[in-house]
Amino acid sequence: MARRFQNYIDGKWVDSRSGRTFENRNPANWDEVIGTFPLSNKEDVEAAVKAARKAYESWRLVPAPKRGDFMRNVGDILTARKEEIAKQMTREMGKVLLETRGDVQEGIDTAYYASSEGRRLFGHTVPSELPSKFNMAIRVPIGVAAIITPWNFPMAIPTWKIFPALLCGNSVVFKPASDTPATATTLIEILLEAGIPPGVVNLVHGGGTEVGIGLVEHPDVDLVSFTGSTVVGKRISEIASKTLKRVSLELGGKNAQIVMDDANLDLALEGVLWGAFGTTGQRCTATSRLIVHEKVYDKFLAMVVQHAQKLRLGDGLKRDVDVGPCVNEKQRQTVDEYVKIGAQEGAKILTGGKLAKGDGLSKGWFYEPTVLGDVTPNMRVAREEIFGPVLSVVKVGSLEEAIAVCNNTAYGLSSSIYTQDINNAYRAIRDIKAGITYINSPTIGAEAHMPFGGVKETGNGHREGGWTVYDFFTEWKTVYVDYSGKLQRAQIDNVEK
Ligand code: UN1
Repeated sequence: MARRFQNYIDGKWVDSRSGRTFENRNPANWDEVIGTFPLSNKEDVEAAVKAARKAYESWRLVPAPKRGDFMRNVGDILTARKEEIAKQMTREMGKVLLETRGDVQEGIDTAYYASSEGRRLFGHTVPSELPSKFNMAIRVPIGVAAIITPWNFPMAIPTWKIFPALLCGNSVVFKPASDTPATATTLIEILLEAGIPPGVVNLVHGGGTEVGIGLVEHPDVDLVSFTGSTVVGKRISEIASKTLKRVSLELGGKNAQIVMDDANLDLALEGVLWGAFGTTGQRCTATSRLIVHEKVYDKFLAMVVQHAQKLRLGDGLKRDVDVGPCVNEKQRQTVDEYVKIGAQEGAKILTGGKLAKGDGLSKGWFYEPTVLGDVTPNMRVAREEIFGPVLSVVKVGSLEEAIAVCNNTAYGLSSSIYTQDINNAYRAIRDIKAGITYINSPTIGAEAHMPFGGVKETGNGHREGGWTVYDFFTEWKTVYVDYSGKLQRAQIDNVEK
C-alpha cells in the first residue's frame, strides 16, 4: 500500500477539508506509486494562514540567534539523513542520485548559513544630523510568508526560501509542487524534529490554482516567494499587487554557453554536457543554447554529438546512469513538441529527437538527449525555455555576435563563456544580460551563499541565496532616539539661520 500523506496545519497532520486526494508516481517507473496526497482547497489555505498568523506573534519575539540554533539542528538532521532523502527524491522526480545528493547538500549549506546569520542580521547605525540623537536602521520580520516551489530542486529551492524566512522571524505556509510532495513532507518533519514550534510552519499540498493562488490572494499573507514559470509568475505578480504584498519571483531561463575559438575544448565539452543534460535539462539554469565560434564550430559540435550519444538513460537510482526521465508525461510532450518545432524551423536533429525506448525505459518518461544544429538566433528553440534534454547550437563569428545572440531572449538567468583570453572574459561579464555569468564553467552549479536570480523576464529584481535573500524576508525599521531632552527639528535646527 502506498503511504497516505497529509497536510500539516496548526501543529497537526490533517487531511484536506475537501476530502479529495491526488497520487504521485515515480517518473522512471509509472507503476510505482510514491503516495497519495491531499488535494487541498481554499478552506485548508484559510486554516493554514490563520495558524501561521497566530504563531508569528510569538515566533517574531524569539531572539534571532535562538532561531539560528533551530537552523543548526535542521542542518544536522539533513546531514544525518542525506542519503535516504536523496533516494526518496530520485524516486519522486527522477534525477540521478549524484544530483539529488547535491540537492540535499544545498539544503544543508543553506541551513548552516541561516544558522550563522542568526548572529548577524546586521543593521546600520548612522550619525544623526542633530546633537544628542542616535540613528539606526534595524531589520524586522514581516509576517506570514507563502512559499511556492517547483519540483526540479525539491529540497534546495524550498530551503532557500523557508530557512531565511524562518530565521528572520516570519512564519510560513508551504505549497510544494504536486510532483514532489513527499520530499516536501520530509522537510517539514525535519523542521519539527529540529524544534520549530507548531504553527510556525504549515504545509498545504494541492494545485496551483486553488492553493497557490489562494495564498497569493489572501490578505493575511504578507510575502510570496515563488519559483516557476514566467507565465505563472506574471499572474502572481498581478494578483499580489491588489494587496500590495511583497513578491519574489524566480522564473524561466534560456541560458547559453559561449565557446570561443581560443577555448579549451575538452573542458568546454565537459561543461556543456553537464549543463545541458544534468537534471535532464530541467533546471532554470540549464544550458539550453550553445553558441560556438565558427572557427571551432564543426569540430566542437562533432565532439558534443559524439558524447551526447554515449549518455546512459535510466532510473536515477541505478549505478552508471547519467540522465533520468522527464518529470512527467506533459513535460516530455513539451520537449518533443519543441524538437518538432525546431525541425520545422530548419534546425538539424544531430542526435536524439525522440522518446527513448529500450531496456528499463518502457515505463518512464524518458527522452533521448538531443542536439539541434544549425539553429539561428530567432528560432523559437533559440529563444524559448524548453526545460528538457535539448541543446540548440548556434554558430557565430565574433565575441560581439556571441554576446548579442546570448542576449537575444526574454530571459536573463545564467550564462557561461569558455575562453582563455582574459579580455573576452571581462567583456562577457560586462555585456551579457544575466544575473549569473560563469567563466570556464557551465551555466549550472550556483553556490548557496551567493546571490541567485536573473534579469529581464527571469524575475522581478530580488535575489535568493547568500546575504541578499535576507533583504527580501525582512523589513527595514528606521529608529531615531533623541536624548537631548528638547525638541530638535531635522533640516531646520541644524541649519544656520
Ligand atoms: C533551478 O534550476 O531553479 O545553479 C535552481 C544550479 C543549482 C540551482 C538551480 N544550484 O544549477
